[in-house]
Amino acid sequence: MKIVMGHIISGSLTDGLVMRIAPETNLEEIKTGKFLSIVGNQYRFFSLITDLSLAVTHPDILLFPPTENEPLLSAVLKKRNIYATAILKPMLMLNKDGDHMPVKTIPAHFAPVYEADNKDVALIFGDEAEPSKRYFTIGSPLDMDTPVCLDLERLTERSNGIFGKTGTGKTFLTRLILAGLIKNKKAVNLIFDMHSEYGLQARKEGPNQSFVKGLKTLFPERVAIFSLDPESTRRRGTNPDVTITISYQSIHVEDILSLQAELNLHATAVEAAYLITAKFKSNWLSMLLSQGEQLKEFADSVGAHPESIAALYRKLKRLERLPFLTTQTEKTPVIDQMIEYIDRGINIIVEFGNFTQTFVYLLVANMITRRIHAKYIAKTEKFLGSQKKEDAPQKLMITIEEAHKFLNPTAARQTIFGIIAREMRKYYVSLLIVDQRPSGIDEEILSQIGTKIVAQLNDEKDIQATLTGIANASSLRGVLASLDSKKQVLLLGHAVTMPVVIQTREYDETFYQAVADTVTSKQIDTFVKELFT
Ligand SMILES: Nc1ncnc2c1ncn2[C@@H]1O[C@H](COP(=O)(O)OP(=O)(O)O)[C@@H](O)[C@H]1O
Ligand SMILES: [Mg+2]
Repeated sequence: MKIVMGHIISGSLTDGLVMRIAPETNLEEIKTGKFLSIVGNQYRFFSLITDLSLAVTHPDILLFPPTENEPLLSAVLKKRNIYATAILKPMLMLNKDGDHMPVKTIPAHFAPVYEADNKDVALIFGDEAEPSKRYFTIGSPLDMDTPVCLDLERLTERSNGIFGKTGTGKTFLTRLILAGLIKNKKAVNLIFDMHSEYGLQARKEGPNQSFVKGLKTLFPERVAIFSLDPESTRRRGTNPDVTITISYQSIHVEDILSLQAELNLHATAVEAAYLITAKFKSNWLSMLLSQGEQLKEFADSVGAHPESIAALYRKLKRLERLPFLTTQTEKTPVIDQMIEYIDRGINIIVEFGNFTQTFVYLLVANMITRRIHAKYIAKTEKFLGSQKKEDAPQKLMITIEEAHKFLNPTAARQTIFGIIAREMRKYYVSLLIVDQRPSGIDEEILSQIGTKIVAQLNDEKDIQATLTGIANASSLRGVLASLDSKKQVLLLGHAVTMPVVIQTREYDETFYQAVADTVTSKQIDTFVKELFT
């Protein structure tokens, strides 16, 4: 027998329903974000608790509170006169056949409210065991031990965001979701790994210093590390699959645009860059940087203002200190190698090693993404022309951290990441953006995000930003405000049937066993053969 948690006594569709919490229920076990089911005549209403309060039948009672020595009085009051209520926001209705639909009605007075059970959760969020492999467990509802799945198919249909302040578990959760996409082969991933946390291993904060496995370690055959800093990759245990070198020629003014805020580049400096490009084409940057004393003559020769040229020169001079930039033309351009891996379904982690300055991250991610996107447009057009199944491009998902630096209102208008976020996967490319300051992201982009995974945020502006374009925004605000500081998130949007708060799945030994590629006996055979020949 399921225990009744309480009964609906009032409320409305827009503001939520008021449940009188049953006197037997331990009040402190009821938390905001808890997942409950209201049983009506025809429908069950799946709801989240969005608020809690104390109530009394007559205000005078409050004037004579029972003391600790009057347990009997206390018990009597509890029965009839004092009680607690919860606001329940229904998010989804289920009919008797188990079909779900949006909430358009409300249950009658005194409808009983139960804890949702495992069957309900599976019915709503899907089941990993399903042969389509579209569902992947990412946690469980508050105080319940039952899996909540993301619909990976739907996740890859849009760009997505993982938000939360520092230390809430964004990177761990991102790695976990990427592992799901890789395991179930729902998209190929390109991950810009600023702090080397995705590939080989990552530090796990806690009382005893420990490490967790990265994606290359879990899926050695299906993940490749492209490193800007091969020494650093080696120090962490392995040779990179590819060492990235980039020629000056492949840096376009558009890539510099992405650095405008970071390098404090004035618009006139950018104009000057365009003027240099008009004259020197792809050699523009090496031409600029090779000017020593003759900046003024150079400015005259391209028709730019000497001061703008000088500023541009000063700001970009620091690029010369990056050893992965070369003046030589690329023999096999790194982009072609990436495309080759992607076509084979191999996921790519771009490691920055010791180059953790933001401007490097922005420059490299923009440049690589701009070129990959151009290839994807060509691929898509080819596919649309031929309509042959084998020409269909692989779905590509690009992960960036510090997303507001790529997608702030200025950058979003001018740079490749803004274009990808807005074009809604027209060319088979979508974004997974990870960010601690979502209020810095362009509003239009925020409203295009398909699935949002939101951990604790303290700033009111950030909370508001993550709820941009969400139907039940006001009722979810309270839920967001009461999340734990770690490993708890609100899931909402395209890849989940209804918003839900979860305790995130533990990224540990058990997880590795569930997802990692097991070595087949055939692989062992080949390995042994190689060893002895
Ligand atoms: N799913 C998880 N499984 C295990 N530990 C986690 C998980 N999520 C977060 N943690 C712990 O929280 C710490 C911070 O998580 P992290 O993802 O680095 O936060 P953020 O990227 O938001 O700053 C980790 O070092 C780890 O100890
Ligand atoms: Mg992080």
